[in-house]
Parts: sequence; structure tokens; C-alpha cells
Amino acid sequence: MEIDRCYCFQVRFAELRRVAKATGATSVAELQAHRRFGQKCQLCHPYVRRMLRTGQTCFGEIIEAADEPVPE
Ligand code: FES
Repeated sequence: MEIDRCYCFQVRFAELRRVAKATGATSVAELQAHRRFGQKCQLCHPYVRRMLRTGQTCFGEIIEAADEPVPE
């Protein structure tokens, strides 16, 4: 199974990457100012953080919050 979106809101990480490039958003919170996602289970947050760090938008592995640094 590949994970490529916030499933609760059906927003693809590729779309969030486009938003980040267009707006300069560098965090989940900053992206949420532009798109509605990540406000239910929040399991997508570590994927979005990795996407912001690496540009990767499709994941074949489970990433948990402890796997990605949470910005202060
Ligand atoms: S998958 Fe993003 S809030 Fe649930």
C-alpha cells in the first residue's frame, strides 16, 4: 500500500508540496493556513513533515510521529 495523501481530507501530499512551493509554507501549521487537511486523526502529519524536508510525496512505509522531528 502506498500512502500519498491525508486520507481524512483526501488531500494528496503532491498538492501540499505545490502549496508549500507557492506559499513558502514550511510546516504543517503553515500549510493548514492554505489547505484543509490533517485536522482529524493527524496520522498524515509525519508524512507531511517528511515531504517538506525531502520533497517525497508517496510513501511505502509506515511513518510515525517519533520518526520525524517535530518543529518547535
Ligand atoms: S490522515 Fe490526515 S488527518 Fe487523518
